[in-house]
Amino acid sequence: MRLAKYLARAGVSSRRRAEELIFEGRVYVNDVQADQPQLQVTETDKITVDGKIVSGIEDKVYILLNKPPGYISTAKDTHGRPTVIELVNSRDARLYPVGRLDADTSGVLLLTNDGELANRLMHPRYAVEKVYHSWVYGLPGPEALKKLKKGPLIEGGKKPPARVELLEKDPQKNIALLEITLTEGKKRQVKKLCRAIGHPVKKLIRYSFAGLDAGNLKEGSYRHLQKDEIEYLYTLVGLEN
Ligand code: URA
Repeated sequence: MRLAKYLARAGVSSRRRAEELIFEGRVYVNDVQADQPQLQVTETDKITVDGKIVSGIEDKVYILLNKPPGYISTAKDTHGRPTVIELVNSRDARLYPVGRLDADTSGVLLLTNDGELANRLMHPRYAVEKVYHSWVYGLPGPEALKKLKKGPLIEGGKKPPARVELLEKDPQKNIALLEITLTEGKKRQVKKLCRAIGHPVKKLIRYSFAGLDAGNLKEGSYRHLQKDEIEYLYTLVGLEN
């Protein structure tokens, strides 16, 4: 494997930053200063950055979790609340959620130890689609929907939703189901958008992330991504596998 790719895979930095580290003369392979990112290396080579040994590449793990409400999507919580990491049996891999869902939001959440892929999936440049099913209070009319499509002004959000659809109306309960597709990942974005059109969220579910949905996974269950799904994610964010 090429040295820059190896460093990125080992979690040292992004591939581009690894190239810079090499050109800055901070990387040594078998005690010889490396000067080329494309230098071929293997697990048996001794590789150091700033004198510190880079430990081997962890096996990559890619998980799709159907997050239940009540779990927070950070790796650790200072208040001792249950985290999504506790829902998966990841053996020794240090998994991180790709982006965040609020504690009371359910639905698709990817977990991985592939930092480079995770960073790109979250980066606004790649505009990865996140589809939300948002049960809202009240029955949004044409004006409210128009406003939502145009993207009402909310703190932190810049882009209007990529798509908005009214899927269901329940006049008896006075609630409606909206499908909202976002390409940004701002904090509490769906809740802010819905509140801004006068229809606060009652219940929020992330239906899909980057085209991957929960299928028939029950809330609280997860599955490992298939090889073709991982390849698809790599291609989506311009990475070679
Ligand atoms: N938007 C929200 O408001 N909450 C989420 O959990 C995700 C998107």
